[in-house]
Amino acid sequence: MAAAGSHAFRGTFYHTPAYGQLEALRDVVVVIQDGRIARIASGAEEEAVQSEFRLSEGQYFVPGFIDTHVHAPQYKFTGTGTDVPLMEWLRKYTFPAETSFQDLDAARQRYSLLVKRFLANGTTTAMYYGSLHLQPNLVLVDSIERLGQRAVVGKVNMDRHSPDDYIENTSDGLRDAEAFVTYTLDKKCSRIQPCITPRFIPTCTPELMKGLAAIASKYGCHIQSHISECCGEVNCVREMHPDYASDAAVFEEMGLLTSRTVMAHGTLLSDEDIRHLARRGTAVSHCPLSNFFLGDAFFKVNHALSLGLKVGLGTDVAGGISPSMLSAQRMAVVNSRCLRAHKLAKDVITFKEALWLATVGGAQALDMSDRVGTFEVGKEFDALLVDTNLGGTSGPFDVFPGEDDDQRFEKFINLGDDRNLIEVYVQGVCVKRGDVFLLDSSVE
Ligand code: GUN
Ligand code: FE
Repeated sequence: MAAAGSHAFRGTFYHTPAYGQLEALRDVVVVIQDGRIARIASGAEEEAVQSEFRLSEGQYFVPGFIDTHVHAPQYKFTGTGTDVPLMEWLRKYTFPAETSFQDLDAARQRYSLLVKRFLANGTTTAMYYGSLHLQPNLVLVDSIERLGQRAVVGKVNMDRHSPDDYIENTSDGLRDAEAFVTYTLDKKCSRIQPCITPRFIPTCTPELMKGLAAIASKYGCHIQSHISECCGEVNCVREMHPDYASDAAVFEEMGLLTSRTVMAHGTLLSDEDIRHLARRGTAVSHCPLSNFFLGDAFFKVNHALSLGLKVGLGTDVAGGISPSMLSAQRMAVVNSRCLRAHKLAKDVITFKEALWLATVGGAQALDMSDRVGTFEVGKEFDALLVDTNLGGTSGPFDVFPGEDDDQRFEKFINLGDDRNLIEVYVQGVCVKRGDVFLLDSSVE
């Protein structure tokens, strides 16, 4: 395990301090003390620091990726169950898979694989949905804590329109949600924060939603749910809540729109809804790959940002079939190009905007932009060491003579994968080097 004390890296650091702005900090020394960036100095001027590590040519640091929407138990069936619309998908694949996590030995093994897979893909922070039952969610929190990831995690609540064997009554649900929050807070792990998680409006009674909002308020917790995801869901909500014009209006009435709320999808939000979310400081997790599979519309990132909305990026595993935030970034670019092709929005985004969404946008959505997202003095060092020297059969792309750092880095964002991520850091601690998870003491 790398020491959490003082160490330094010298080389090129890429990050996106503003939307669409890719900045290369070339030949700098970044000194990390107690998990935070203590100093950034020019490599040429800085005296060699003790225990300084020099990056090789073609190696770069990039901020760790922030996935703002993942269903932890759904990792089990990621890449399958891609043949039906959302409401059927939930009943056919999702609820049975989530139910099976009551087997705690299985949960332990699967959640360990999940957290490792996400760390290996460069996700240093994830906003996770767990499942309905309390105990497997505690296993999830333990797995995250053990392997060194940063996370916001919630126990899923659902007290109606759910299968008989995957439902809770309202008071049990509220009791377990609070028990989950206190279990997580009692760990006093600065990397892990609990989250209130009403699954989505169709499976939650107003009483449950209002009770959950009260718990979030009591503990100052994050909140996550799904909003205006697809026609099936939206139509169901309109039937159940005819007095409310939109999902956003229902969530507003329940007290669930706060500055610590992240709502997934939002493809069918009206401009009025978006403005309302923005006023509340609520963020949307843009999940382009999942929207292609389960949605009925494209999310307009630039338009939403222009209305003042906070936007992060999410994989939405397993509605999205890839756990990779590199894939999510590419899908965000493709999504914007689909919009332009259909003349639904003027402006496309590039890999630079996509990287901002995967780092700074996510940090803003999770109310942690003072801690992570860029390389700045005072921020915690969540970072990926990217090696672009892996060509041929050992890497996903080749580099040709004459290509400069910027071209190599763009190739990584557009073509790279977990093989290029040779080290993963969270709070200044190396949690993965090569194939080894350095904090993993368990034998599985
Ligand atoms: N809406 C309610 N539950 C879910 C879920 O698990 N995934 C997605 N994509 N949408 C949902
Ligand atoms: Fe989801």
